[in-house]
Amino acid sequence: MKPYIKDSIICAILLLTVFFTACISNIEEQQEELTKVSYISDVKPIMDARCLSCHGVGGNFPELKNHADVSNHAAMVKSEVASGSMPKGAVLTPAQIKSIVDWVDEGALDN
Ligand code: HEC
Repeated sequence: MKPYIKDSIICAILLLTVFFTACISNIEEQQEELTKVSYISDVKPIMDARCLSCHGVGGNFPELKNHADVSNHAAMVKSEVASGSMPKGAVLTPAQIKSIVDWVDEGALDN
């Protein structure tokens, strides 16, 4: 084998290694991003400020006063919020909507 061909092969292997390492670390970063929404610090404040006036104890179904209430109706809460149907007569910011949607997608954890 001519020396330059050997060099090219080594070079190609090195490049592929760098490429795959970059891909793997990218996937890890994305997974970290997917588990960052907290019920206590992100979702609950939105529920308290924007939903409880109508969905508090004895209010409209579903009650949204605590984690059990919200997680039991997580899919419904997600679709109402994502479609803009709730909060009734008002709007959330895109960031608030994203927090709620991501939190539900992450399993509606008590975190
Ligand atoms: C101004 C009062 C009001 C506010 C604020 C409000 N809702 Fe509602 N919500 C209602 C009423 C009334 C209903 C009953 C169904 C209807 O009239 O659309 C309802 C229904 C729902 C339902 C059930 C939908 C179904 O298919 O049965 C969900 C889930 C919901 N709201 C989530 C929320 C969330 C999450 C928030 C806060 C981001 C919120 N709501 C804020 C009044 C409100």
